[in-house]
Amino acid sequence: MVRVAVFISGGGSNMVKLLDDMARDGHKGTPCVVLANNADAGGLARAAERGVPTVVVDHRPFKGDRPAFEAAITAALKPYAPDLICLAGFMRILTGGFMDQWAGRMINIHPSLLPKYKGLHTHARAIEAGDTLHGCTVHEVTASLDDGPILGQANVDVTPDDTPESLAGKVLVQEHRLYPAVLRQFVTGDRTPLILQC
Ligand code: GRF
Repeated sequence: MVRVAVFISGGGSNMVKLLDDMARDGHKGTPCVVLANNADAGGLARAAERGVPTVVVDHRPFKGDRPAFEAAITAALKPYAPDLICLAGFMRILTGGFMDQWAGRMINIHPSLLPKYKGLHTHARAIEAGDTLHGCTVHEVTASLDDGPILGQANVDVTPDDTPESLAGKVLVQEHRLYPAVLRQFVTGDRTPLILQC
């Protein structure tokens, strides 16, 4: 089985979907730990409810010293021996040094149809641009932000009455379909991009 660590910063709705799908038959991945960068992350309780070990590595004491924060993450992960990291609403930017250790073994979900709208505020930017199509992407994580090989995408229609909040809600529904589907195939070594029809 592929040992999967999931990194969160908040409610962890994507993390829940990943854990629940790994609990279903035929999945080659198994969750070994959920790591959060703050103790208030709501997803920690949801992971614990599912019997998955959790660990907190608070980034604040490191005061911007990213390599030291990442060394603490590496040490915290050691006992769980993950083979793969899934970033799921993890809001800290990781350095190239950490990426190098996890090249090809770290994936992320981003709320836009990459390469459009890397970075933050993706829904507002899509609305501002007058896009009629938007969505989410699962990609391999590399040193350049939101830029690694695309592993899957799902799209949603943008309607004239959409606000960033309503659009985020539509996209999140698709994230919850896409991320588990991509992880289920990624752990088999299959990196064929998955395009989910909505
Ligand atoms: C989601 O919109 C995801 O695209 C982004 O973080 C948001 C919150 O995710 N990466 P979650 O509910 O904490 O999984």
